[in-house]
Amino acid sequence: MSVLITDIGELFTNDHSLGIRHDMAVVAEDGLIAWIGPASSAPAADTVLNADGAAVLPGFVDSHAHLIFAGDRAPEFAARMAGESYTGGGIRTTVGATRAASDDELRRNARRLVGEALRQGTTTIEIKSGYGLNVADEARSLRIAAEFTSETTFLGAHVVPAEYRDDPWAYVALVTGPMLNAARPYARWIDVFCERGAFDADQARTVLAAGQAAGLGLRVHGNQLGPGPGVALAVEMGAASVDHCTHLTGDDVDALASTVIDCMCHCDGASGTVATLLPGAEFSTRSPYPDARRLLGAGVTVALATDCNPGSSYTSSMPFCIALAVRDMGLTPSEAVTAATAGGAHALRRTDIGRISVGARADLIVLDAPSHLHLAYRPGVPLIRTVLHDGVPQ
Ligand code: NIG
Ligand code: FE
Repeated sequence: MSVLITDIGELFTNDHSLGIRHDMAVVAEDGLIAWIGPASSAPAADTVLNADGAAVLPGFVDSHAHLIFAGDRAPEFAARMAGESYTGGGIRTTVGATRAASDDELRRNARRLVGEALRQGTTTIEIKSGYGLNVADEARSLRIAAEFTSETTFLGAHVVPAEYRDDPWAYVALVTGPMLNAARPYARWIDVFCERGAFDADQARTVLAAGQAAGLGLRVHGNQLGPGPGVALAVEMGAASVDHCTHLTGDDVDALASTVIDCMCHCDGASGTVATLLPGAEFSTRSPYPDARRLLGAGVTVALATDCNPGSSYTSSMPFCIALAVRDMGLTPSEAVTAATAGGAHALRRTDIGRISVGARADLIVLDAPSHLHLAYRPGVPLIRTVLHDGVPQ
């Protein structure tokens, strides 16, 4: 089965040998990109999709989302907009609602959010557990997450649940023992919220080391609410990504920069420990935005992701995050699109997604606009005309 997308006004590739090209065509065959070239010399295919001069981009890679939960926390959001600050304390409210929900309620909610994200151009999404916080509820959260994505992340170390408040190390022992064993069959990654009020550096290191010994890749939530040890720990442990990075010291930036190695995947970038920025969280908690320019200036690989969750960032929209990154974090539109595609791929240590190159997966979006610039220039407007996932129009 082959699909020819022709009359592409602007092709945004993230492939350093191609860059941004005009008047192009792409052929997808059996789920992969098989041919890229001028529209005037495009080969025949089973199906033709005419882009009518629109822009075509790689599908967005949302490398950070918490989609397995029940309920919402709209009143908490309203209170923040009226001046309350975000502390992460509301996580325990969602834990209560999630434990009380049936498998089907959790599945329906995740399906709704994955569908929302897909309609907004997200073709790969990472999904974390983290609202179960006991063995059975973390395992079922990951079992349900695995129905939607292969990028599943065990976040048993999200916060210490109320029943372990007086003995956080006993909870760390549960997370690194029976909970990890139960989660392991469904998880590719392990994550920890390393922050004041959640897990300190020693506790977080213990969690990550246990996950690594069980064969999981490492991710960290760090430096969200204030300066702290999250970034340094992520670098020390060789994590694929440290996420939030809202409050960074010069040493944090230097540590991230020291991990950068030349990228072998033909994209315009380098990998190491990626700094994943989540501007939906800053928007929704009225916090200062992370200093993306400082990170890019130091050569750090930057990803953009939604952090979709019912507390700090209830958006599934990568276009919204791109618009915020351009308006409030000083990224150029092209840097923001690259962070939302190739950056996310790096954060998931994937070379098959996030770019338009022969041999990459045919995950593509056709915009209702002539250029990627419109994603930030026309915020809040549904600009995703067609999404192809594995070469199949959705
Ligand atoms: O990434 N920071 C920790 N976890 C989530 C928030 C979860 C919640 O508030 O429910 C985050 O922002
Ligand atoms: Fe998060």
